[in-house]
Amino acid sequence: MEALTGTNPTNKDHLWWQTGIIYQIYPRSFQDASGDGVGDLKGIIQRLDYLQWLGVDCIWLSPIYPSPMADFGYDISDYQGVHPLFGTMEDFDELLDHVHGRGMKLILDLVPNHTSDQHPWFLESRSSRDNPKRDWYIWHDGGENGALPNNWLSVFGGHAWEWDETTQQYYYHAFLKQQPDLNWRNPEVQQAMMDVMHFWLRKGVDGFRVDVMWHMVKDAQLRNNPVAPNSAFDENDLIYEYHDPVYSTDQPEVHEIVRMMRKVTNEYEGRVLIGEIYLPIQKLVTYYGLNQSGAHLPFNFKLLSLPWDSKQIAGAIDEYEGALPADGWPNWVLGNHDQPRIASRVGRSQARVAAMLLLTLRGTPTIYYGDEICMRDVPIPPDEIVDPQGLNMPDRNISRDPGRTPMQWNAGENAGFSDAKPWLRLPDSFRRVNVDLQKEDPESMLSLYRSLITLRKRQPAFQTGQYTPVYSDKQLIAYIRENDLDRFLVVLNLSHRPAYLRPKNEHFEGEIIVSTEAERIGLRVDNNLLLSGDEGLIVRLER
Ligand code: GLC
Repeated sequence: MEALTGTNPTNKDHLWWQTGIIYQIYPRSFQDASGDGVGDLKGIIQRLDYLQWLGVDCIWLSPIYPSPMADFGYDISDYQGVHPLFGTMEDFDELLDHVHGRGMKLILDLVPNHTSDQHPWFLESRSSRDNPKRDWYIWHDGGENGALPNNWLSVFGGHAWEWDETTQQYYYHAFLKQQPDLNWRNPEVQQAMMDVMHFWLRKGVDGFRVDVMWHMVKDAQLRNNPVAPNSAFDENDLIYEYHDPVYSTDQPEVHEIVRMMRKVTNEYEGRVLIGEIYLPIQKLVTYYGLNQSGAHLPFNFKLLSLPWDSKQIAGAIDEYEGALPADGWPNWVLGNHDQPRIASRVGRSQARVAAMLLLTLRGTPTIYYGDEICMRDVPIPPDEIVDPQGLNMPDRNISRDPGRTPMQWNAGENAGFSDAKPWLRLPDSFRRVNVDLQKEDPESMLSLYRSLITLRKRQPAFQTGQYTPVYSDKQLIAYIRENDLDRFLVVLNLSHRPAYLRPKNEHFEGEIIVSTEAERIGLRVDNNLLLSGDEGLIVRLER
């Protein structure tokens, strides 16, 4: 902990969200204390010992607000409350106190792009064309003979416009029709959402992860999106990826909104603004804003969107490092509630290498709950699918349920998650793959995560030191992390076959301090490095 309390001279100029590690909790699936099969805030409080033991610094909670749950909480009907499924506002205050009491931070999910169709704002807006809140959402007459206003498609499939019988206009929804998009060009909407931010910041939350930040503003003329180059889909499929969403997302004006959010965040000490943004690196980095006026951390999803290929990943790391503004702090994300789990994407052995990559790169790492015990996507039978993305596009096998299953705590009933039948099923393997067992096993994924986290916290070279690429080829990625005091070489074999690292221009001598293969720890290295398939290791260099 010394690095985080500022006693370490090399780190004292850095803030907690730069040196710390973020851990994402999907509240429905972490711990159920109330016995209804759905996780809740009291459950999270019960598991804080674990998170502190693991060594993470900041918890990000997916939405806990009142919601009809059409999109599992990303359809909010009250921005300033807590859904009874998760508990009460008193429970939230208690959680925040406990988290802070342990020297940790808590950030909330802010979903400003859209509300639930049951939010009082939308109920008013849709009640009549001259309602004062009519312009809070994106309404349009449509074209001749009832044609849609434009060709925009919903991320969850189908058209993005929904006809409203009562007022005879369409409204726009980038996601479900139960998630109408707010009109961020309207100053009243801007003010209302800034008030929401103030409400939670005043309570003491340490910041926000802003949902679909790059979606917030749309083209003022609502122009048609062009067809994506090389699209795998047909026009009639009505699949979002058929288009390049150049007019419905990432508009220049969105940066003004992000600036407003940053200003509000800055009014409180030590808070962080994180943006969910799926864009190419060159566009992603614009969300830092000029002179630190944008997001502190525009989420970098390269590790979860690129194929698991050493050359492509090494290239993306360098492109990202090169594209960051001078005052922009990097970050890396390995998993979240919208993506297949890393262990299912790259396999169990490579998931260990991925953990080493995430926790040794320069920049704030974000861990998705359960990845630290190598949870895999759980096969969910078609009649148990609840995710709207899965239900709306049943033939595409893109339900997000498999990556949202309950945390596997122990080998007991329901994996220790709940006394009742969990809202999503557990895999049969939970008796083998769980926190309790892995805590005892020095070679488990959990032990690897813990040693990587401990190393990162103890060694400022990893938290705030420089990153220098050393080598990459079609199997390996190697880089150095260093500061004035220490120098470490990280070598990762992203393939299943053995590989050599034979540096030409440098001489590396030192000791292996962490490895995905326990037997290697403590061995000395003298320049030539031989790695087995799926191996990653960290060498403390003798400068
Ligand atoms: C974000 C969330 C995702 C949600 C969507 C719509 O991408 O991460 O879970 O479905 O926004 O709110």
